Amino acid sequence: MYDFAPAAALPKAELYDALASAAGALVEGERDGVANMANIAALIWQFVPDLNWAGFYRTVDGELVLGPFMGKPACIRIPFGQGVCGTAAASGETQVVADVHAFPGHIACDADSRSEIVLPIIRDGVVIAVLDLDSPLPGRFNDEDAQGLQKLAAIAARAI
Ligand code: SME
Repeated sequence: MYDFAPAAALPKAELYDALASAAGALVEGERDGVANMANIAALIWQFVPDLNWAGFYRTVDGELVLGPFMGKPACIRIPFGQGVCGTAAASGETQVVADVHAFPGHIACDADSRSEIVLPIIRDGVVIAVLDLDSPLPGRFNDEDAQGLQKLAAIAARAI
C-alpha cells in the first residue's frame, strides 16, 4: 500500500525525522485513533531496524491495555508501575533499558527481547498511552532513539 521506508540506512536523527514526517502525513486528517496507532506501528516496523516488537499500550480504566502493534502476540494488561511500560506510564518519563533482564519487574512478553524503550504519550498532562519498542539486541536504544521517537510520541498524542 504505502511504502514510506527509506531506501538506505540513515543516521538515527535523520531516520527519526523521516519517520516523524511520514507519520505526520499518514495521520493527517484521520481522527480514528486505532487506525492511526496501527499505521504508526507499521511505519516504525518499516523504518526502524533490529526490532522484534513495536506498538502501543493504551490507558484504559487506570491500567495499560494492549493496542495496535507489530510483532508476536503480547501481554494484554499491564498495571501502572509494573514492568518497563508501567514504569513509563506511572512516571511520565521515557524508559531506556539496555538489558531487560536487569530491569526489576520487566515483563517478558517475547523471550527474544533483550533491550527496550518505552515513551509515555501525554495529552493535556495525562498519560493516555505508551509507545513500546523491543529489540533482540542488547543496548539497542540510547538518547538519540529517545529524542527521535519523542517526535513520534508527540504526533501520536494528537492522533490517537
Ligand atoms: N516488556 C514490557 C511488556 C510489553 S512487551 O515488551 C510487548 C514491560 O516490561 O513493560
